[in-house]
Amino acid sequence: MSTGFRDRPTRMPGRPLNADWCRAQRAAHLLGGRLLYLPQTTSTNEEALHYAAAGAPEGTVVVADTQTAGRGRRGRQWQDEPGQSLLFSVLLRPLPPPPLWSLLSLGTAVAVAEALRESYGLPVATKWPNDVVIAGRKVAGLLLEQRGAAVVVGVGLNVNGLREALQAHVDRPVTTLEAERGLPLSREEVFVTVLAKMEAIYHQFQAGDITGLVNRYRQRESLLGQAMRVTVGGEQICGVATEVTDGGSLIVATPGGQREIIAGEAEVIADGE
Ligand code: BTN
Repeated sequence: MSTGFRDRPTRMPGRPLNADWCRAQRAAHLLGGRLLYLPQTTSTNEEALHYAAAGAPEGTVVVADTQTAGRGRRGRQWQDEPGQSLLFSVLLRPLPPPPLWSLLSLGTAVAVAEALRESYGLPVATKWPNDVVIAGRKVAGLLLEQRGAAVVVGVGLNVNGLREALQAHVDRPVTTLEAERGLPLSREEVFVTVLAKMEAIYHQFQAGDITGLVNRYRQRESLLGQAMRVTVGGEQICGVATEVTDGGSLIVATPGGQREIIAGEAEVIADGE
């Protein structure tokens, strides 16, 4: 006999972002002072690159509730649960010189991690070079893309929703803030909090305090001291991550000596792997 109750609670569907509230919070600031909201788009990075080419000012932010062709690193797709994730891209110009490029992504990763730790008390860490994780599960990813003299910093952050819904699409462990906290969060609050922290760190970057910025990153980096494998092109390098340099490279102690890795795909390895 049906009791009229469901056995499992149904999830609240995602809802549109309250962009007006976010605009009001960011009105006087560089990042998000100009905020473009789209219920759906192919990719906020693609949109922001388009605005960059059209001469949009520094600090322009594009945010969407869902993407039909969200871009991840290495040609991967970025999956979202409509109305549950934060999907946004920040336009920065002028382009910093190439050696400082990777520090922009490290700076963004540490901004996301610090904002979430301070505001929600979650044990959020970075995972070199571009991921943000909670207990080894990816909660956010970053993708930087260049167009002319502008750079677009894309952030995908899994805010609400069940971990399982996202995990079905991805082969590495993922999580959402809601799954970690046990409660849904206001995407608007998370958004403005992360933008504020990104802006503070961007000012530190612009002021040339590179060591200070990388020190912040070092405090949050989950790979340091871990046995790991990093794939660089076709090569796999195994060792213990010992340091992040002021240039943003990862130093790995291998049986054959120290290796400095500028970019790659890193994963922690268990004993015996
Ligand atoms: C990665 O970890 O592979 C990077 C993922 C970056 C995803 C974000 S979502 C918002 C922005 N728009 C995109 O198309 N990609 C980035």
